[in-house]
Amino acid sequence: GKKLLVDVDCGVDDAQAIMLALAAPNVELLGVTCVHGNTTVENVCKNTLRVLQACNKLEIPVFKGAAKPILGNSLSAGQFHGQDGLGDAPDPNAPGLDLVQKEGAVSAMIRIVNENPGEVSLVATAPLTNLALAVRMDPSLPSKLRGLYIMGGNTESRGNTTVCGEFNFAADPEAAYVVLNDYRCPTYLACWEFTCYSKLSWEFCDTWLAQDTDKARFMARIFQHSIKVSQSERFQKEFVAGTGFISCDSYAMAAAVDDSFITESDHYPVSVELTGTHTRGMMIVDTVGFLKDAQKAFIMKKVDMEKFKQMMMAALK
Ligand code: BDR
Ligand code: CA
Repeated sequence: GKKLLVDVDCGVDDAQAIMLALAAPNVELLGVTCVHGNTTVENVCKNTLRVLQACNKLEIPVFKGAAKPILGNSLSAGQFHGQDGLGDAPDPNAPGLDLVQKEGAVSAMIRIVNENPGEVSLVATAPLTNLALAVRMDPSLPSKLRGLYIMGGNTESRGNTTVCGEFNFAADPEAAYVVLNDYRCPTYLACWEFTCYSKLSWEFCDTWLAQDTDKARFMARIFQHSIKVSQSERFQKEFVAGTGFISCDSYAMAAAVDDSFITESDHYPVSVELTGTHTRGMMIVDTVGFLKDAQKAFIMKKVDMEKFKQMMMAALK
């Protein structure tokens, strides 16, 4: 089976991505590392445990990572995901934080990859702070990865957090810079605009949530808040025409789970803007060839949407 290690800031689409991976055949989830982002890292740990509980997979280890970006303070995406990160639909039977491993996320990442050299695909659906710290602690880490799958960055300088900044990159631009530069391994990016062009229709979402399972009922509860925000007029105007839900993180996960998921991609050197009046956190795509030393990444352009819907359906079965 495929070995995955997943780094999340467990909001609603992270939850969907984790559930997609848990339902995929031949996939072994070795652990989930948590980081600040959509909400505090403590909430992220709690949310991850809730998702694992909903899937009867509490044996998968959860590790707590960075509480803040390399520089400055954390952002939050409470407006979209709910203040607690999962739609502010609390569960009295949620597992306690005592289930979080004692070992920290960065050490766990380094240990797990070194125990399985060449076998682990790392999926990052959050600010890249943990990954940046890990490569500083163990520079050999990227060479031991099978692949790196990231939801983050943008290709048309269209932001969702600042004018030009996508959330995961804008929440820790230095970390994104380090990761794009220093992870010299096959790297796949699900960038913001691509995810906007690959929305799931509301009809699909209705069918998806109507499945008669506990997992579907769990998802329906945590999802209500983001559905409301996504359907608001303001969101539709700001974040790319056309309606439907953008399960951003699930695209990175689907690519890691199934090699044939990406049907078309660009392969260019990429980097991140660290200064600028409006552009801090914006991803740079070098289509011309100036960034001689920058690493090339595969930027997803087209994916198999039928396969995607099947994987999503299976996630709530
Ligand atoms: C990214 O930001 C977060 O809010 C989502 O979970 C996703 O990882 C989208 O820009
Ligand atoms: Ca996320």
